[in-house]
Amino acid sequence: MSDLAALEQTILNDIAAAGDETALEAVRVSALGKKGSISALLATLGKMSPDERKTQGAAINLAKDTVTEALAARRDILKAAALDARLASETVDVTLPVREPPAEVGRLHPLSQVTDELTAIFADMGFAIAEGPDIETDDYNFTRLNFPVGHPAREMHDTFFFHPKEDGSRLLLRTHTSPVQVRTMLSQKPPIRVICPGRTYRIDSDATHTPQFHQVEGLVIDKGSHLGHLKWILHEFCKAFFEVDHINMRFRPSFFPFTEPSLEVDIQCRRDKGEIRFGEGEDWLEILGCGMVHPNVLRACGIDPDEYQGFAWGMGIDRIAMLKYGMPDLRAFFDADVRWLAHYGFRPLDFPTLAGGLSS
Ligand code: DAH
Repeated sequence: MSDLAALEQTILNDIAAAGDETALEAVRVSALGKKGSISALLATLGKMSPDERKTQGAAINLAKDTVTEALAARRDILKAAALDARLASETVDVTLPVREPPAEVGRLHPLSQVTDELTAIFADMGFAIAEGPDIETDDYNFTRLNFPVGHPAREMHDTFFFHPKEDGSRLLLRTHTSPVQVRTMLSQKPPIRVICPGRTYRIDSDATHTPQFHQVEGLVIDKGSHLGHLKWILHEFCKAFFEVDHINMRFRPSFFPFTEPSLEVDIQCRRDKGEIRFGEGEDWLEILGCGMVHPNVLRACGIDPDEYQGFAWGMGIDRIAMLKYGMPDLRAFFDADVRWLAHYGFRPLDFPTLAGGLSS
């Protein structure tokens, strides 16, 4: 066998042995590339006599064509094999059950849901959201809200105090969201219409109290605001929140230092085998405190009580969440137990809206 025939055979064997397209490309380069074995032979033609060139040239070119065809044929086979392997590995078993994506499995905590619900209701009535810090000054949490220093009303709140500073003043964990009223009045000019949802803290712990809980405050300041407006707002809120067409409310006289007059609000309900229904029945359930903002509070917040008046209310978010969704123990809210959350939680992509339904 001539050298050329032997070389051709070696290359054809290498082509047949190439297991994938990368290996095949390596064979091509080593034969037909710039420095390939066949290219090297073609480069010798220039130094041959014309006769020799004629015969050798034809023979080398023939070998080149044979190798080129063999490469193309092998490439087709390898391509087809690669496609078959990919199709086999990517088959889909359409009989398998659908696995829920993470966004479907995750649940929103009922507190987040209820906060979203009440925000949707008050936003629809034209209220803005105001926020304040969890760590407050004694001044904003008490003094400017008309709890004078040393006044017994301060003892109604079991307060977490920080260590006193050198000047004797003490920071505290806010005991209610009412200091956000102060912050709002100090930073905005009336008319004011805000709700302030947020975390609150008191030294208290049993089935219906936790040291950290949540409130939502409402505040309206304008020239002509009066108790009739407050009643209407709370009535509309309760109907929308509890998702009933009709609700009976009772306003009882009460006492808060920052309102005058002060009222507590009950809603009528029926308790039946552990279930509560609103808008019917003989029982009354207290849900919030409210009143006309005390002139001392307006003055302490830079608003002239002869020109402006307003009303406010405060409500426990945890409490209304427990009532609406029938959750008996508040402590479970803070246990981070995924089984509880799977049961009481809400689908994250179902945003509560008045038009689309709050809880459905
Ligand atoms: N801050 C009160 C509390 O935590 C709740 C409250 C009552 C807020 C009456 C108000 C209000 O704005 O007018 O007990």
